[in-house]
Amino acid sequence: MPSNGPLIVGSGIAGLYVALRARELGLRPTLITKSRLEESNTRYAQGGIAAAVGEDDSVGRHLADTVNAGGGLVDRRAARQLTEEAPKRIADLVRMGVPFDTFDGRVALGREAAHSRSRILHAGGDATGLQIEETLRRRALHEGIEARERTVLRRLVATKGGVTATLSRDDGRSVEVVEGRPVVLATGGAGGLYQYSSNPSITTGEGIGLAFRAGATVTDLEFVQFHPTTFYHDGAPRFLMTEAIRGEGAVLRNDAGERFLPKYDRAAELAPRDVVSRAIDREMRRTGAPCVWLDATGIPRDRLFARFPTIIRFLASYGIDPSREPIPVAPAAHYTVGGVATDLDGHSTVPGLFGCGEAASTGVHGANRLASNSLLEGLVFGERVARQLLHPTAGAPPAPGRTVTVRLRPGRGAPMGTADFEEVRKTLWEKVGIVRDGPGLREAVRTLQAVGDRLEPPERIELPGPGADAVLTARLIATAALTRTESRGAHWRSDHPKTLDAWKFHLGLSAVGARTR
Ligand code: SIN
Repeated sequence: MPSNGPLIVGSGIAGLYVALRARELGLRPTLITKSRLEESNTRYAQGGIAAAVGEDDSVGRHLADTVNAGGGLVDRRAARQLTEEAPKRIADLVRMGVPFDTFDGRVALGREAAHSRSRILHAGGDATGLQIEETLRRRALHEGIEARERTVLRRLVATKGGVTATLSRDDGRSVEVVEGRPVVLATGGAGGLYQYSSNPSITTGEGIGLAFRAGATVTDLEFVQFHPTTFYHDGAPRFLMTEAIRGEGAVLRNDAGERFLPKYDRAAELAPRDVVSRAIDREMRRTGAPCVWLDATGIPRDRLFARFPTIIRFLASYGIDPSREPIPVAPAAHYTVGGVATDLDGHSTVPGLFGCGEAASTGVHGANRLASNSLLEGLVFGERVARQLLHPTAGAPPAPGRTVTVRLRPGRGAPMGTADFEEVRKTLWEKVGIVRDGPGLREAVRTLQAVGDRLEPPERIELPGPGADAVLTARLIATAALTRTESRGAHWRSDHPKTLDAWKFHLGLSAVGARTR
């Protein structure tokens, strides 16, 4: 690896943006991704990116909406940073060439759930993530940033002089040790560990497990956000049906054709997404139906087709015209609110290891993220990480209100098989899903520990096999959910349905048996 600049792991919006900004600041970053450069969760983001740029809007309103959606746990400083810096970061994207949609010569702004104003910028209608990803990727290549595909981060070790990273090709060959360079984890979330997810299959959260093994504290992992409306059809992918469709006026109906959301929340279809997901889940259980129906037939056909071309094309391949008939939808895992605990400059608890984007946990989303704040998070905190890479200062995330230790123990070192992966996905979906309870969560922790015992290397000094880090992340999610004995935001426990003041804090997990050399 010729460069001695920062090592950036992940090629979604956070990783690409940090790499580009680091380059603009005169550094020589190397970006690695386990897949292809263009493949990431960002690519599939439809709705857009929130920023208070409208005439009727203000940073204060965006901040208030972010805080209100977050179930009482939003870190106000982080949310202020996010909302204040949003317009500047959007200007950066425009400067870098992202073609945001316009209307009558002004930027077009959509509406999404729990936003009090129309403030969602979008590109290509519902292809916002794709447009951003393509623009940043092309620019990174044009800038000559060293970008290595099919290159996997296998291990992180905290040392006195920083962090040592071990990399290999995705076939396990060409193992390489990188020392003395800051490492930025922009590896995304863990939605793909669930049986049903809006995320691409590569979104398996191993960055979180890797950091945890190296001694980093992780926080807020119990808050897994379920998107209310993904396409439901036997054997079909759970393709996202963006909230922006509801923002344009679509409504949800049950199997009997009744609009049911007003029964659950005054804001009905525009209630926060945890509320909408739980309402759909209840309605499906009540009626025994496998899905509900997103009815967009009230939106003028021209408007529907112009605004959501990606969705229209996708549905056409299943013979569905949403201007004439409702779309079958069901909730699916969508976004990992928690992750590697970082401060607002991306410092984790391991010196030299930074995090940003969905892999990181700053507390900015509290217990439930406001729609379209996730691409924004990658930019705002990515920028702050890039500046740290140029002018490092000491820093660490605030200590969580409570930290629980999780033991790492040697296993049998078996390779991850398809059956292991399916067991993890099914366990998370069934036991750590939209509604959880103590017995189910205990069973999930036991199952995930047993899968981990098969996959963990026999001696700590060996490289964990592919998959062990992802399974560890799944176990951490289940452990956090079992520990938090209340319901809050995206974490809903049928055996502890109340939100309790006694639990109004961030929950941390840290490793016993973590590698320190
Ligand atoms: C959507 O388009 O509905 C997803 C947006 C988000 O997750 O913020």
